[in-house]
Amino acid sequence: MSKAMLRNLTSKNPRMVRGEGIYLFDSEGKRYIDGASGSALVCNIGHGVKEVAAVMTPQAEVLAYNPFHGSHSSAYEEMAERLISLAPPEFGKVFSVSSGSEAVENAVKFDRQYQVVRGMPSKHLVISRWQSYHGNTLGALGCSGHTGRRRKHSPILKDAVHIPPAFCYRCYFEKNYPSCELKCARALENAILQEGPENVSAFIAEPVVGAALGGAPAPPGYFQLVREICDRYDVLFIADEVMCGLGRAGANFAIDHWSVAPDLIATGKGLGSGYFPMAASLISDAVANTVQAKAAAFEGVHTCCGHLLGSRVATLILDYMVKNNLVRNSKQQGEFLLKGLDEIKASHAAVGDVRGLGLMCGVEFVKDKATKEPFPPEFKVAEQIMDACMERGLIVFPGHGTVDGVAGDHLLLGPPLVITASQILDLLTILKDAIGSVEEALMKL
Ligand SMILES: Cc1ncc(COP(=O)(O)O)c(C=O)c1O
Repeated sequence: MSKAMLRNLTSKNPRMVRGEGIYLFDSEGKRYIDGASGSALVCNIGHGVKEVAAVMTPQAEVLAYNPFHGSHSSAYEEMAERLISLAPPEFGKVFSVSSGSEAVENAVKFDRQYQVVRGMPSKHLVISRWQSYHGNTLGALGCSGHTGRRRKHSPILKDAVHIPPAFCYRCYFEKNYPSCELKCARALENAILQEGPENVSAFIAEPVVGAALGGAPAPPGYFQLVREICDRYDVLFIADEVMCGLGRAGANFAIDHWSVAPDLIATGKGLGSGYFPMAASLISDAVANTVQAKAAAFEGVHTCCGHLLGSRVATLILDYMVKNNLVRNSKQQGEFLLKGLDEIKASHAAVGDVRGLGLMCGVEFVKDKATKEPFPPEFKVAEQIMDACMERGLIVFPGHGTVDGVAGDHLLLGPPLVITASQILDLLTILKDAIGSVEEALMKL
């Protein structure tokens, strides 16, 4: 019996021993298409990239660890420069950490320190959205609106104020876009007024919702209106791009699709692409300069901040992304994937919706297409389909709570950004077959 604690103690997941591009191979030699880039849309550059090892080994031999609170390192400075070159022009500083949850929490702390040094200490509330995921540490989980992951811990969370998600397929306000006039964005203004603008410091949102909604982008105009509302009430806007950033959604940062700049960005996953645990909070010049003008230091630090070896790896990964046009590939192949998913939707009674931006796509399952009634949660439909995919050599990311935090099943698809059109066709063939194999029995229930 293994001593290693697993998330699912009864999991029969395969034991992976090798990766190459979009493929993983298990200990029995079976090949899988990694449709989830290493479980949760992490390994953007693909598996087994030799250039990464070529950078890691010599750097580890010379010096691996030299955090920025100890002394300066050109590796961290280089990485920050590369990251800023991909961000909106308003951004000027990078604070590097090891996980997406830390990147989110440090963005919230930057926001807080900004409000305090400006003489606005009453501003302390963060507003976020239901059906969102911002991380699993207590602060980041408090910001999250992922019922399944929150419920057991809710009494000990530092909770945010939650507003409805921007989710057109199941509009909370039962409206249709665009005649809805973006009531979901206007809900932010209501929440700010209810809490008192003098108490609200930030709004946090994923431009494309990953784990909680399965690849759901906000509609056009949403973040432009969010920006206006935040400016009107002197509230900072934090874009959580831990999953959807760095090319995943077919743009450098997903928020680029709305042509607005947030004040802070949290990024992670693709930054280290699983080769090294790297994440970062990006800070706009306006926020960074205000904090730096009034305070000697940003009051937040972790053991591995600005990790030297991690910075070398992240720089290589960002360069690899640019050199191989992975953002463009994500956009092009993402459109091709979504077209294929549309065809699957048209021919399958249990597929209610398909959606996505770039290579961050989702498939939502329903019992009844006309009413959008979900399957009962105890059927575990997403898991059934995930298992059927796994059997056929495709890894996907299952999710629940799509409807109301509890009911609703979806799959998130996010293969490495190096995927080709013919590999997408292979992925679609397996997915179609897997859905078909489960659907017949499901529809009889
Ligand atoms: C949007 C988003 N934010 C934050 C996180 C937390 O990142 P980590 O698991 O690296 O702490 C995740 C992880 O899935 C995420 O998808």
